[in-house]
Amino acid sequence: MIKKILVIHGPNLNLLGEREPGVYGNTTIETLNSNIIDRAKEQGMQCEIFQSNHEGAIIDKLHAARKEFDGVIINAGAYTHYSYAIRDAIAAIKIPCIEVHISNVFARDEFRSKSVIAPVCKGSICGFGSGSYYLAVQAMSEL
Ligand code: DQA
Repeated sequence: MIKKILVIHGPNLNLLGEREPGVYGNTTIETLNSNIIDRAKEQGMQCEIFQSNHEGAIIDKLHAARKEFDGVIINAGAYTHYSYAIRDAIAAIKIPCIEVHISNVFARDEFRSKSVIAPVCKGSICGFGSGSYYLAVQAMSEL
């Protein structure tokens, strides 16, 4: 059976490529998404990608994912640091979630070093630029 994974990009990640390139790089979300899909295919997995700037939409997608996908890779953006609602949604679904961040959140503002979703995720990957997502795809294929 082919593994189906969902990648969720949270708020402001639609602006990748133009948003603070010194922190997040020059890769656009379109290029990133197509690379993620290629990597997933190479690992024999199907991949859907969803981006939203809205907390409730991310929660709805997580709920729907529990019946449709085998795992979720999530970059919750700034929600990572304070959304107990997203944390509870991840805890509520039984499929594994991997947390990713493009930047090294521990090397930046103090508020970014706290992730309220990390304890309910299978694991976390940060600081490798777009590579954080590719590593998460690799990890997902091995789960
Ligand atoms: C981010 C890090 C967050 O602190 C920030 O709010 C983002 C992006 C990252 O991918 O490095 O929006 O999740």
